[in-house]
Amino acid sequence: MARPAPVIVSGIQPSGTLHLGNYYGAIRQHIDLHRRHESYYFIVNYHAMTTLHDAQALRRYSVDVALDYLALGFDPAASSLFLQSDVPAVNELAWVFYTITPVSQLEKGVSYKDKVAQGLSANAGLFNYPVLQAADILIYGGTQVPVGADQKQNIEICRDLALRFNATFGEVFPIPEPYILEDVAVVPGLDGRKMSKSYGNTIGIFDEGKVLKEKVMSIRTDSTPLEEPKDPTTCSVFNLIRLVAPEADRERIAAAYRAGGYGYGHAKKELIGFIDAAFGPAREKRRALAARPDDVMDVLREGGIKARERASSIMDRVREATGLLVTHRSPLTA
Ligand code: TRP
Repeated sequence: MARPAPVIVSGIQPSGTLHLGNYYGAIRQHIDLHRRHESYYFIVNYHAMTTLHDAQALRRYSVDVALDYLALGFDPAASSLFLQSDVPAVNELAWVFYTITPVSQLEKGVSYKDKVAQGLSANAGLFNYPVLQAADILIYGGTQVPVGADQKQNIEICRDLALRFNATFGEVFPIPEPYILEDVAVVPGLDGRKMSKSYGNTIGIFDEGKVLKEKVMSIRTDSTPLEEPKDPTTCSVFNLIRLVAPEADRERIAAAYRAGGYGYGHAKKELIGFIDAAFGPAREKRRALAARPDDVMDVLREGGIKARERASSIMDRVREATGLLVTHRSPLTA
């Protein structure tokens, strides 16, 4: 039998300002994939609540991330972009999964263990996070999940749940594959460590003008004098240029590093130019979209309608397989 067409599913954390590490680590691939395959991309506001209890912030971050994706080229005509909370049935499916998830498996969850190791008490939402994530994927019959390497364990839990459900109740779910985005570039932050929100060393995708300049000028470099040859491969400025600049410029600048007489200040100025050229159009688009918030909500609403349709047909099969009777059918509950 021919392999079924892939269905791409991925959740996006509404965690505030996206940075270049997010872009080159995941968003770029999301944008590329969503045009080529049926895809479901959702803003995981239920998941965000495991660590965020501020209504205004949750609303703002959720809309912001939609604006970011749309500005960066997500085309809602090609695939669905929607809010996780527009498909409440995902929680119904998560419930079904709880009943077949060993507590011992969740106790091995990395995020849960980290919290506990830090002496923090995890809430039940954080403990159960991977189960809701599995429901996120399986409710659309996802077959491919583009995620960073840090999500391997959650995808493994999802696969286990799909297999266990099918073995217990009958075949309903395809077994999804992780599509690990691990050979994507490590994006250096301002201090040379991996760019990460938690290190406070990021360059925002939509930073511009003075803010962008100050950040780029503060990128840490060694003290090799201007006239001496330099190794581009170990330099954070060059490693950013390598990601952002057109190929001919990359080669020219690498050669200039090696030849000497080209300083880090030059490289930083050029980097600002490349960032402006690469993200300038997206900044414009984001400004235009931000001025029309109703249109953004319309995009999310349309995406939600498609997602609920898809989810509801799978939930019917889940209810059938498990014996969960319902006497009504509301378009909102599925
Ligand atoms: N846990 C993912 C992250 O932190 C977000 C996520 C939630 C997700 N649900 C998902 C990713 C479903 C892929 C598929 O990035």
